[in-house]
Amino acid sequence: MEKKKQLIIGICDVKHMFESSVIIFFIIGAVVTMAFCYANMSPPSVVVHGAANYDSLDGCDLFSGKWVHDNHSYPLYKELQCPYITGEFACGQHGRMDSDYQQWRWQPHACNLPRFDGKEILEKLRGKRIIFVGDSVNRNQWVSMVCMLQSVIPIEKTTLQKVGNVSLITFKALEYNVSVDFYWAPLLVESNADHPSMHKTNDRIVRIESIEKHAKNWVNADVLVFNSYLWWRMPELKILNGSFEDSKQYNIVDSHHGYGMVLEVWSNWLYTHINHTRTRSYFMSMTATHLRANEWGKKGVQNCFNETTPIMKDKFWESGSDSKMMRILESSLSKLKAKGVTVQMVNISQLTQYRKDAHPSIHRMYNSPLTTTQLLKPSSYADCTHWCLPGVPDVWNEILLAYILREDK
Ligand SMILES: *[C@@H]1O[C@H](CO)[C@@H](O)[C@H](O)[C@H]1NC(C)=O
Ligand SMILES: *[C@@H]1O[C@H](CO)[C@@H](O)[C@H](O)[C@H]1NC(C)=O
Ligand SMILES: *[C@@H]1O[C@H](CO)[C@@H](O)[C@H](O)[C@H]1NC(C)=O
Ligand SMILES: *[C@@H]1O[C@H](CO)[C@@H](O)[C@H](O)[C@H]1NC(C)=O
Ligand SMILES: *[C@@H]1O[C@H](CO)[C@@H](O)[C@H](O)[C@H]1NC(C)=O
Ligand SMILES: *[C@@H]1O[C@H](CO)[C@@H](O)[C@H](O)[C@H]1NC(C)=O
Ligand SMILES: *[C@@H]1O[C@H](CO)[C@@H](O)[C@H](O)[C@H]1NC(C)=O
Repeated sequence: MEKKKQLIIGICDVKHMFESSVIIFFIIGAVVTMAFCYANMSPPSVVVHGAANYDSLDGCDLFSGKWVHDNHSYPLYKELQCPYITGEFACGQHGRMDSDYQQWRWQPHACNLPRFDGKEILEKLRGKRIIFVGDSVNRNQWVSMVCMLQSVIPIEKTTLQKVGNVSLITFKALEYNVSVDFYWAPLLVESNADHPSMHKTNDRIVRIESIEKHAKNWVNADVLVFNSYLWWRMPELKILNGSFEDSKQYNIVDSHHGYGMVLEVWSNWLYTHINHTRTRSYFMSMTATHLRANEWGKKGVQNCFNETTPIMKDKFWESGSDSKMMRILESSLSKLKAKGVTVQMVNISQLTQYRKDAHPSIHRMYNSPLTTTQLLKPSSYADCTHWCLPGVPDVWNEILLAYILREDK
């Protein structure tokens, strides 16, 4: 205070006018600089603990970001503590020794994802039923969700049941009356790949108008989470005219065209059969398959085999991810939106592109024994499509939950 007074007096003292102005100039400069720095201080980039603030995500693009190594927050659960992980995703139990792939956090550029808090989430989902519908990548995500939720409740307070003879498996968190189901329908409509375990075929045959056979099992849900991509990755598709029992009449169409046709049937079904006040629907976008290591700078014919670090090149895009398919999906969803039905696309395509390290590779269960030729060349049988658990699908679920809980107001 004293100093300030002296300075003010000093300004009026003509003799010292020059020196005083210089001092004042610096003081004002310092104050302005400090204020500026304070206002522009970036939010702490650590993940915020405590009550998750999902509202703070409004307006943030969750899909634009980068992977950050964070062995403090991840993994969200331990592989051996989740009895529901099946052989194709249990990499540690099938000889995978490194664990860095479990320790990456997705950091959106513009905000932080709330830290996963299983108890809080179960409380918010109390009495609700979530159904995942789709292929084995969707099952991968469903198992991840089951393990995430199961990690905070005693195992005897959970059940896992196959329901009847339909392709439905139900996980229940009993005390919370939360049900998380998986329904196998890789092409959404009736097809020759409908058997949940015996569906190996290179021939794709669909009955395009027949969605009801599967869809009647989806009506009673609070949240529907769809995916359908990999099974369309064939040049063409047979469309059956009639039933699988009676008909041998096919029309052959190119797969992109078939995908559009099936999405239209699916859209119409969703529009007419779902109570959109009760049920929220999501569509998981396509995920990367790391089959060509030359795309990330490796020599020779390699794939995700023996990869242990993510790709750090911004906007990396592998050639197996067909953007044309994404445009077809986007167009279907925007037509639905125009009719008043919102199906949120959960756009995980870009974030999966970077994670060549996170596939099971050779560390998974195989249904048939491997041949000597295969064993001599491990990359020939590496699985570069699915994802080890714990791992990348846990992050898809964190993003999905951010949507579900943000909209559930
Ligand atoms: C976590 O990672 C850091 C390096 O990023 C390492 O120094 C530390 O030992 C790791 N901690 C654990 C528990 O693995
Ligand atoms: C449990 O949730 C289901 C919906 O998923 C509901 O129909 C049922 O009434 C609930 N049961 C109890 C005991 O709250
Ligand atoms: C499975 O259920 C359907 C009805 O959805 C029934 O027509 C069929 O006979 C059942 N199959 C078996 C093997 O139980
Ligand atoms: C399906 O078969 C019926 C009777 O066999 C025929 O009239 C109809 O034109 C066929 N539809 C298509 C799309 O091929
Ligand atoms: C749709 O769901 C809402 C909320 O659960 C309910 O109030 C409404 O009665 C349902 N509408 C129909 C037609 O079932
Ligand atoms: C896997 O990668 C490591 C180092 O990146 C290398 O030393 C090793 O030879 C590779 N293993 C095989 C079987 O290619
Ligand atoms: C989803 O992400 C991809 C890749 O980043 C982008 O090209 C596409 O426009 C996005 N689609 C939507 C609907 O956000």
